[in-house]
Amino acid sequence: DTNARLVVAIDGPSGSGKSSVSKEVARRFDLAYLDTGAMYRAVTWWCLESGVDLTDPQAVTAATETVPLEMGTDPHEERITVAGQNVRTAIRGNRVTDHVSAVSTTIPAREVLVRMQQDIIRDSGYRIVAEGRDITTVVAPDAQVRILLTASEAARMARRGKQVGAAASSDLEARVVGRDAKDSTVVNFTTAQDGVHLLDSSELTMEQTVQGVIDLIIRATTHD
Ligand code: DC
Repeated sequence: DTNARLVVAIDGPSGSGKSSVSKEVARRFDLAYLDTGAMYRAVTWWCLESGVDLTDPQAVTAATETVPLEMGTDPHEERITVAGQNVRTAIRGNRVTDHVSAVSTTIPAREVLVRMQQDIIRDSGYRIVAEGRDITTVVAPDAQVRILLTASEAARMARRGKQVGAAASSDLEARVVGRDAKDSTVVNFTTAQDGVHLLDSSELTMEQTVQGVIDLIIRATTHD
């Protein structure tokens, strides 16, 4: 049934394979795809670009309320623009990555982004895979399928290392761990809440992890 609501909420730390897995699942089920981390990154990029003081929570919140952000939801093609500028590549750079916690730890800024994310989910006709850190708990707690995708620290570092090229991997490790630690102070994405399925990808290939998510979707949609 291609009209039935199918919101798949996937949370997890960086390097859990969340983005690749979520995108692939969206493609296979013909669902929209929302990368909420990209939104935190885009706001951070906008703050850096427009000289907003990232140490000032009020300024960060005001920037989040007014950011001219457009998020695409096509799992086949990432489209994300700020003030008409394609920021797809820029938001993955170290400059943004190093500052993104300033946005993700500002509670009122989170509230603005959560509302934007809920609007995007509604606009998809509630047929979407949304991934991040607080999707199963805050953004879409009533999703048809909720998954916490975890992976051991060793597996996460290995994957991140591959994504950026093996260079400076200990530096990278410190960054990833530090960022997750900062984010953990405002969102709990390390333990699964009631009704959230835990999927550990440490020993799984990407394809096996995709299959694990698909199995959970099939179970959830045939048992009610
Ligand atoms: O998944 P990512 O690395 O692109 O996320 C970027 C940052 O935003 C990271 O510090 C975690 C944070 N984030 C968040 O706090 N809540 C979300 N729903 C998604 C990301």
